[in-house]
Amino acid sequence: MLAGNAPRICGALADPKRRFVALGGMIAIAKAERLRITLEREMAALLNDLSQPIPPETIWEMKRNYDDWLPKSVRCRTAYLENRRGAAWRAAKQLGLIDLLSSQSLVAFAETVLGRTLDPKGGQQVLRYGPGDYSGPHTDHTPEIKRAAKGYLDVHLSLVSPGVAHQYLVYAKSGHFTEMVSVAETGCLTLYRLPLWHYTTPLQAKRKQERNAARWVLLGTFLFADS
Ligand SMILES: [Fe+2]
Repeated sequence: MLAGNAPRICGALADPKRRFVALGGMIAIAKAERLRITLEREMAALLNDLSQPIPPETIWEMKRNYDDWLPKSVRCRTAYLENRRGAAWRAAKQLGLIDLLSSQSLVAFAETVLGRTLDPKGGQQVLRYGPGDYSGPHTDHTPEIKRAAKGYLDVHLSLVSPGVAHQYLVYAKSGHFTEMVSVAETGCLTLYRLPLWHYTTPLQAKRKQERNAARWVLLGTFLFADS
């Protein structure tokens, strides 16, 4: 890929009609699993609950029939890794997570898929979806951030425990939620040229595996170099 020898992947997100790519088989399963186990041991306790339920007013204050309005709803656990003094950032730094998510090779990889250069100074976040955790339909559009207003790139690395039955990413193409890919594959990389309408289905555990069912997402956000 880095040598430009993967024609279906290199420049895939340069296609104006294509905003999402899922790449399996890019990371050795055993390494991904070791990383997940390390995160579970070292980071799980440092995450915070992120819970934005659907506001009841969206039903009970509605005045017109079928005039639905749905703000972003989400439930998972997360650490935003912005504050260098925070315990989560320090643990992430020590584990090599910050270096992984801002490494030259990851940026080069993302640039290859995107077909344009990125500002290497990205942002990092870590998320953990347990049973029933999800994110509702949203765009991740940030028009108030000038450099991101015309688009930016997210790279997600999924690390999935063996207790997970399924979780899907659904996204819109030509204005309809027609596209659905499994994100319950450990070591799977997903790249988003945002903004894009998408949602993540509630994580389902295998029978009697609820306690051990989790999907970790390591997230790198990058602005375009020329934005
Ligand atoms: Fe999103």
